[in-house]
Amino acid sequence: MTTLTTEPVASLLSRLFAEAEASDARLWKMRENISQEQQTARMRSTSEYRELYGSMKDFYLAVSPETARLLYMLSRSIRARSIVEFGTSFGISTIHMAAAVRDNGGGRVIGTDFERAKVEQARQNLVTAGLSDLVEIREGDALQTLSHNLPDSIDLVLLDGAKSLYGQVLSLLEGHLRAGALVIADNTDYCPEYLQRVRAPNGGYLSAPLGEDVELSMRC
Ligand SMILES: C[S@@+](CC[C@H](N)C(=O)[O-])C[C@H]1O[C@@H](n2cnc3c(N)ncnc32)[C@H](O)[C@@H]1O
Repeated sequence: MTTLTTEPVASLLSRLFAEAEASDARLWKMRENISQEQQTARMRSTSEYRELYGSMKDFYLAVSPETARLLYMLSRSIRARSIVEFGTSFGISTIHMAAAVRDNGGGRVIGTDFERAKVEQARQNLVTAGLSDLVEIREGDALQTLSHNLPDSIDLVLLDGAKSLYGQVLSLLEGHLRAGALVIADNTDYCPEYLQRVRAPNGGYLSAPLGEDVELSMRC
C-alpha cells in the first residue's frame, strides 16, 4: 500500500487528472491557430514567460499521469526527503512527490509558482490530500523564491516552470544537490541549452531522455 494509491489521495488525483485532461483539450483548441514555430518561440522566450504563463493561469498544464507516477517511484526509490519543484500549478506533481516523502518517513517538498490563484488552489489540494504538513509553496518568480532558504541537501528536483529558465533554476539549486540527486525536467524539447548542459561530458551530471520529452539527470 502507498499513500498514492490509497484514500484520500487516490480519489483526489483521479478527479484532478480528469480536470487536467479537460483543461488540456481547451488549451489545444485555443492554440489551433498558432503555428508550431510561434508556439516554440513563445515557450522558449526568456523575456515573455510571465505574460505567457499569465495567459495560461486557468490551465492545469500538468505532467502526464505516467510522468507523475515516475516522480513518485523515483522519489521513493532514492528515499527522497528533500525535494524542490519549479512550477507547481494546481499541485498534481507536488502531490505525487509529497506522497513519496510521506512514505519515505517524512521531509519537505518546496514548490513554487507565480500565479496566486494556482498557489492557493494547490495548497487547498494538498490539504485535501492530507499532505500539507510536508509542503511549502512559495509564491513568486522562482528566480527569487528559490534563491534563498534552501535545504542544505536536496535529493530530487522537478523542473516544470518556464522552459527558458531551467538552466538558471538549476544553477540556483546546484550547490545543494547531494551526490546522486535526481533532476527530472519536463518538456525538454523546448530547452536545447539545458539538455546540452546536463548531457555534457564531465559537466557534473549523467543524463538520459525518458519517454517523450522528459530528461532524467543525476548529479555526480
Ligand atoms: C507546466 S506547469 C506546472 C505543472 C505542475 N508541475 C503539475 O504537474 O501539475 C508550469 C507552471 O509554472 C509556473 N511558472 C512558470 N515560470 C515560473 C517562474 N519563473 N516562477 C514561478 N512559477 C513559474 C506557471 O505559472 C505554471 O503554473
